[in-house]
Amino acid sequence: MAEELFLPDNGNKTELYESILPQIKGLTSIETDLIANLSNTCAVLKEAFDHLWIGFYLVKNNELVLGPFQGPIACTRIKKGKGVCGTTWAEAKTYVVDDVEAFPGHIACSSASKSEIVAPVIVNDEVVAVLDIDSDQLATFDDVDQKYIEELCHYLATKW
Ligand code: SME
Repeated sequence: MAEELFLPDNGNKTELYESILPQIKGLTSIETDLIANLSNTCAVLKEAFDHLWIGFYLVKNNELVLGPFQGPIACTRIKKGKGVCGTTWAEAKTYVVDDVEAFPGHIACSSASKSEIVAPVIVNDEVVAVLDIDSDQLATFDDVDQKYIEELCHYLATKW
């Protein structure tokens, strides 16, 4: 079945999130395969916002391992507490980083990345994955992104 994303014309950030979140839920509601669902989630976010890089790192054997993503090639493994992703995992909280150069220990997968938001997916009090979104502009992400990306991660946790 062909799936097509509906995006509001000239929508602001809030309108875009309000439009895509129900569509992500619709796309993933009857599919039980995690990789399929995370892949389509990345595709929707990429199509809606066209950020540099959008993807998941999954906790496997006490490391973050690259999962479904959209964008340039990326580091495949990140240790707990390392970089923005590893810190998000270690502290189980969202990080909004306006300038990645200013984040101690930031892992530069791409020199084009200037700012990022990373949110944890938490199942039974354990971080099972992080969703990382990178921008090629400084200070792209704010509390609006944080609110909706956290809502998305809460929803995805129910699909694990
Ligand atoms: N910048 C991230 C690493 C992942 S990539 O940018 C895709 C970090 O510091 O954790």
